[in-house]
Amino acid sequence: QLQQLILDTLDKHSKIEDTRSLDVPDKSDSLEAQLAVLGALNSLLSRDMVKYDSHETFSYVLTPEGAQIAKEGSHEARVWAALPAKGQGIPVTPVQLKKLVGDESAQVGQGNAFKRKWIAKEGDGLVKISQVDSITDTTQLDLQQIQSTGDLKSGDKVLADLRKRKLVIQKKGQWFTVHKGPSFSTSIAKPETDLTADMLVSGTWKTATFKKYNFEAEGIPTAGGALHPLLKVREELRDIFLEMGFAEMPTSSFVESAFWCFDALFVPQQHPARDLQDTFYISDPPKSLPPEPSYYKRVSTVHEHGGYGSTGYRAPWSHEESSKLLLRTHTTASSTHMLYKLAAKCRGEDVEGDEKEFTHGAKPTTKHGEKKDDDGFRPAKLFSIDRVFRNETMDATHLAEFHQVEGVVADKGLTLADLIGFMRVFFSKMGIEQVRFKPAYNPYTEPSLEIFAFHPMLNKWVEVGNSGMFRPEMLEPMGFPKDVRVHGWGLSLERPTMIRYGINNIRTLLGHKVSIESVENSPAVMF
Ligand code: PHE
Repeated sequence: QLQQLILDTLDKHSKIEDTRSLDVPDKSDSLEAQLAVLGALNSLLSRDMVKYDSHETFSYVLTPEGAQIAKEGSHEARVWAALPAKGQGIPVTPVQLKKLVGDESAQVGQGNAFKRKWIAKEGDGLVKISQVDSITDTTQLDLQQIQSTGDLKSGDKVLADLRKRKLVIQKKGQWFTVHKGPSFSTSIAKPETDLTADMLVSGTWKTATFKKYNFEAEGIPTAGGALHPLLKVREELRDIFLEMGFAEMPTSSFVESAFWCFDALFVPQQHPARDLQDTFYISDPPKSLPPEPSYYKRVSTVHEHGGYGSTGYRAPWSHEESSKLLLRTHTTASSTHMLYKLAAKCRGEDVEGDEKEFTHGAKPTTKHGEKKDDDGFRPAKLFSIDRVFRNETMDATHLAEFHQVEGVVADKGLTLADLIGFMRVFFSKMGIEQVRFKPAYNPYTEPSLEIFAFHPMLNKWVEVGNSGMFRPEMLEPMGFPKDVRVHGWGLSLERPTMIRYGINNIRTLLGHKVSIESVENSPAVMF
């Protein structure tokens, strides 16, 4: 309808100087009318039926407060009207004034009325200045003018002031000058949007008008994948490890045997962490495959009878306990596999090639290039970030599964100071500068340290990780030489992620209550 109106008007006058002169159907508001005109013009433009220039206008409208003042007068006029003239009544105190004209008018109006010299102080109260027996409420008059014309004759300074007082807002408008285009006609043929097989067969494609491509159109947003906040933080942590020279460990086996999750780490078979209440056991298949027999023997012996300078636990060894399958409770199970693999050379196994993936340093050689006293050990720095499972009561901060971030370093002559140093660097790269270490207990490390970081938002020290030097009872049965030290530390991925994103309920991060939109919109993190 509007397109037809534009074409007909153009046909009659060959040009539309100002589209505000068009009588746009169903649009009483002029801004809306011009918006509709723009839509119609663009559609005609795409068919080359018209050309147009656009012009900007600014008009002004009243805010609700402005409209109230236009109706009832300005705050200052209301104050003035409420006061007695000097010498003709009892001055009105500020408290009384508030009752008379309301809090807001009393507050704003007093200052303005003083400025205009309409009122004066007398004693504790206020009065009209006697010379002023009538006032002109310019604010009200100006606002009334804006209300009816959208503009103010007296000019920009007053307008700027009214805008600052939030009584008036500026509205941008547009209008257009329209000319005929190369394909001008008064009849609108609906352009074809597709070239069809039928058109080709019948030959109608020769005369059909096609809709022009709009290369400026924004495409439909693609529903691409988005990284979950946890994965973004994982990426950052991975970068920290990689730039510190660590290699990533394989962590794909969620199901482990109790042997690799606990026994190989010298966790006693009676340890409470192995209880059903803490660990998810697998019933099918009922048992794990047996580990390599001689290593298995060394591990069971150190538990039962001791060795390597240890008295052991002196408790009966259960083969059944060791072969249970479970969902790993910590990624240290994977680290243990890797350490066992790292020690293969020390055990005299032939693993050429394999170890180069994750170890550091060359073989010690003599001047003639022969092997010299090679005990097979190569230092290694390893890390992993993956999922672990614990049979926990779930609440706002605990789920039955979460992610652990773990670093392990193996070398000769490492000390506790190296471990502390590594962790200071690591946490400072995460943006955590203030760390403290507290002696702790782990069955597989000695000494063990809990790591605390100062949380500026909570204004307190919070536990952020656990660490320690792996025990000889764990390392020596693997075949590591006595002078090899291995230290490690672990933290959860969830906690730093929740802190980063200001999330305080884990269920907003993981599980069925997570909004996909929030995942898609979550910003990248940068430590
Ligand atoms: N496995 C420990 C945990 O579950 C973390 C840790 C890793 C501790 C390595 C010491 C050495 O919290």
